[in-house]
Amino acid sequence: MPAIATPTIFLPGAGTSLLVDELLARGARLVLNDVSDEALRKLRQRIGGRTPEPVWLHHDISQPLPAGLPTCDLWLDRAVLHFLLEEPEITGYFRNLRTVLRPGGHVLLAEFAPAGAPRCAGLDVHRYSTEEMAERLGPEFTLRHAEDVTFVNPSGAPRPYVYALFQRAGADASEADQTKRPSPIARS
Ligand SMILES: C[S@@+](CC[C@H](N)C(=O)[O-])C[C@H]1O[C@@H](n2cnc3c(N)ncnc32)[C@H](O)[C@@H]1O
Repeated sequence: MPAIATPTIFLPGAGTSLLVDELLARGARLVLNDVSDEALRKLRQRIGGRTPEPVWLHHDISQPLPAGLPTCDLWLDRAVLHFLLEEPEITGYFRNLRTVLRPGGHVLLAEFAPAGAPRCAGLDVHRYSTEEMAERLGPEFTLRHAEDVTFVNPSGAPRPYVYALFQRAGADASEADQTKRPSPIARS
């Protein structure tokens, strides 16, 4: 997590990941988005009532985000971006990221690596190198850390990922505005 007391973290495709529970336990304010109603319903059932109350968003992350979302300190994507295949979808995703991420904020992208499988869960994926991530983020972003991580899926198949952490130019993380509060539930 960013080294600030109560970071706001945007998850563009939260799924039902236990990472959400972990981030809440550490006091993060979360914006939990997913295009899947079912995933959001399960997640709400599991974490409903936990504080701070997340901002819930049911939205295709390739489309322009609704107004009124909190500015975030960290954009945290594990296995979402790589499902966007068409160029306008990918461009829309990065436009959204730049809209909600504050100056000095961080982006963690964990996506199928160039050596990874061409499909995931029966769907084609767009595989990423750190170079392509950097190019799509643009010159405002600096690569802070990258590593190759091999996830072994439930059927035992290795799935090579690249995890890359970038930082946007601007105010240092320690200068973050700690007074921001999530806006009420937003739905597209
Ligand atoms: C492989 S799961 C990863 C979930 C979670 N990030 C994790 O690490 O466990 C991919 C998630 O992205 C969501 N997703 C796929 N395309 C999306 C889109 N265009 N907009 C928002 N969410 C999307 C799916 O519904 C799913 O919950």
